[in-house]
Amino acid sequence: MSGHGKQQQLLRHPALAAGHGSGSGMGRRRYLAFLAIAAALVASYHLLHAPTPSSRYHALFLTLGSNASAAAHLRALTLRPHVAGTPANALAAEYVRATLSSLSFPTRVTPYSVLLSYPLHRSLSLSAPGRATKSFSLTQDTYPNDPYAEAAAEVVPTYFAYSGSGSVTAEVVYANYGDRKDYAYLASRGVDVAGKVVLARYGDIHCEDMVRNARDAGAAATIIYTDAKDFGGPAGKGKRKWFPNTRWLPPSGVQVGTLYYGNGDPTTPMWPSCAAGEDCERLSTEELEASEAMPGIPALPVSGRDGETIQKAMGGGVAPPEWQGGEGAPVYRIGPGPAVLNLTYIGNDTLATIENVFAVIEGKEEPDRYVIIGNHRDAWTFGAVDPNSGTAAMLEIAERLSQLEKKGWRPRRTIIVCSWDAEEFALIGSTEWTEDNIDMLASRAVAYLNVDISVFGPGGLMPRATPQLDELIKEASKMVPDPDDPSHTLYDYMIRQNPPIARVAGAGTDFAAFVQHIGVPSLDMSYGLFSEYPVYHSLYDDFVWMERFGDPLFHRHVALASVWGLIALRLADDEIIPFNYVPYASELEESSKVVEDGCPGCAVSFSPLHKSIKQLEKAATKIHMEKKVLQAEKWGLNTRERTLKVREMNDRLMMAERAFTNREGLAGRPWYKHMIYASSDQDDWGTKAFPGIVSAMANAQKLNTTESWRLLQHEIYRGARAVSKASAVLDGSLT
Ligand SMILES: *[C@@H]1O[C@H](CO)[C@@H](O)[C@H](O)[C@H]1NC(C)=O
Ligand SMILES: *[C@@H]1O[C@H](CO)[C@@H](O)[C@H](O)[C@H]1NC(C)=O
Ligand SMILES: *[C@@H]1O[C@H](CO)[C@@H](O)[C@H](O)[C@H]1NC(C)=O
Ligand SMILES: *[C@@H]1O[C@H](CO)[C@@H](O)[C@H](O)[C@H]1NC(C)=O
Repeated sequence: MSGHGKQQQLLRHPALAAGHGSGSGMGRRRYLAFLAIAAALVASYHLLHAPTPSSRYHALFLTLGSNASAAAHLRALTLRPHVAGTPANALAAEYVRATLSSLSFPTRVTPYSVLLSYPLHRSLSLSAPGRATKSFSLTQDTYPNDPYAEAAAEVVPTYFAYSGSGSVTAEVVYANYGDRKDYAYLASRGVDVAGKVVLARYGDIHCEDMVRNARDAGAAATIIYTDAKDFGGPAGKGKRKWFPNTRWLPPSGVQVGTLYYGNGDPTTPMWPSCAAGEDCERLSTEELEASEAMPGIPALPVSGRDGETIQKAMGGGVAPPEWQGGEGAPVYRIGPGPAVLNLTYIGNDTLATIENVFAVIEGKEEPDRYVIIGNHRDAWTFGAVDPNSGTAAMLEIAERLSQLEKKGWRPRRTIIVCSWDAEEFALIGSTEWTEDNIDMLASRAVAYLNVDISVFGPGGLMPRATPQLDELIKEASKMVPDPDDPSHTLYDYMIRQNPPIARVAGAGTDFAAFVQHIGVPSLDMSYGLFSEYPVYHSLYDDFVWMERFGDPLFHRHVALASVWGLIALRLADDEIIPFNYVPYASELEESSKVVEDGCPGCAVSFSPLHKSIKQLEKAATKIHMEKKVLQAEKWGLNTRERTLKVREMNDRLMMAERAFTNREGLAGRPWYKHMIYASSDQDDWGTKAFPGIVSAMANAQKLNTTESWRLLQHEIYRGARAVSKASAVLDGSLT
């Protein structure tokens, strides 16, 4: 996960009630109960669905999970750190390819030469009146008997990819979580950020937004730290405990990340890159340096311990209570100074080879229809959680599919298994490949099913998706026992969350190009919550952490693989694609109201949008009824007529999502073609619908000019036209 994280969701999972401190595993008795429930669910599946040959294979799929296999893959993939563009990551690619190939699936590796970014030199020192100058070591500590201590030496030094290079010595200003409102607050207290070093802490928005906000406020450099309050765990009786004793981030832990504000290879911003030695158009170094998408100023992530050392040297006014640290922290002050930081960062932004690995399971009846499952492989450090918990689950699915093949199963549609590279730098592998295959995917892709991190901890199934997949997610999650409470299913806990299924609006992982650039129905899932994973993007994201805290018995990996694989199987095998657009229409009605409520008393009309959503509801209901009639064989079609009718209906279901896109894309952000789901330009963390409307509204409310209100009305019409286009495709008739 490259960082834009998911919004925190409300949930009441029993394993969570027991506290975040340890991952509760499943004993042998509970495991037997788990197997019994699984068998009962499989039996009920047969009762509910007339057992077609494919539903029998799907039921079999659910019984074939192997926690030992998931654990073995995860261990093998995380022996060494494997950042994109390095020999270690090429070895990981070969591991994935060889595993898929050994299952007798045809495999393929597509390389691209893309701009990656590594540190060459870093130094940071602190001076303040009356204190000796302190140089920070900028290293993360290993612990006694750490089995990965030797390999830790290969971990890339802590840095921000694509940071500006340079040396800055200036007074420090503290800017809390680095949001725009934090800068407005500093301005209200008369603190000028221009030319200063901003000290901010992680916990609210993505680092690329934090550095951008600092740059826009005029800062000369940015330092971002992980405050113990947010990542260090409960203080208890004044004494915190951290990894390897608990799941929490050690004081020397550093969260690294990327600062590139865009998706894909920075040298090929709207078009595909190519392999080394091939010719493709690229931006020049000068064009790249002038690019708004590059942060431009030097920046460095530091540990909680170093952040606290800097805080202790700060003067100026006391920061407000929400800006303070946790128990035992010094009083935070906003500055400026008298603390002075001297930061030097020199990066090497260089073309390097990345590799996407694919396995193709060709469809028997509709080989030109693609159900795509994907996960990235590259990691900032060892990647036991992010992303190889997902890789382990994906390989475990592939093993089960290979067993189904041995028993005679072949999918109706083609299943493509993708292992992406360089996700951490800017979703590069998936973006270049989708750009490279844009029209093939636009005409053939049924769905893209992403899993980045498969397991964070005990928090239950957390899906997000385009809404025509909601019903399928619910059905599939009812078929899988909850690994932490086998008397219930994944569904039972998912449905208590608010919302049970989130949306693919924010970016941060590899579904972005599929949904937001092409309009492919997509989902993304994990088991557990981001907040259960404080060692995110640090040295400590290793196998020991996963085995002790994330998933001690690997049953969570298996449960996630079961629901992910079952969804893929239904999409690949069901005669009529299991999409339902009725929930899509109600979802849009709800989100359009939320958007409208954000604009009380505005002199614009939202009725074009509401009208188009009514149209969508009508078309969605109509195709849903048609599907029922076709399934009940009420039309008396002969085999050939039926085959063509099924294909026609499936094309409408598949292509309706594409119709939400617009060739010009969002205003000022032409890569984002989807009019309903994209990250908000106000805050990359946000998961709002109708990003074009939201952005124009914020602008109009700020400027209050005739032109800005006219632009908002224009965006409302654009959103409405996208929804109408989708209704027309679903409806399948010309005007
Ligand atoms: C900042 O640190 C660098 C590297 O340690 C050093 O060469 C430079 O003189 C320092 N600059 C100031 C103004 O202290
Ligand atoms: C930058 O990285 C590339 C690729 O690893 C390497 O060939 C080159 O020597 C590096 N440049 C510097 C200045 O170290
Ligand atoms: C797999 O599950 C079984 C039964 O709960 C357990 O005994 C075993 O240790 C697990 N294997 C791994 C690798 O965690
Ligand atoms: C916006 O401008 C109009 C006049 O053009 C004015 O009546 C109104 O109060 C302004 N609204 C805000 C929120 O400033």
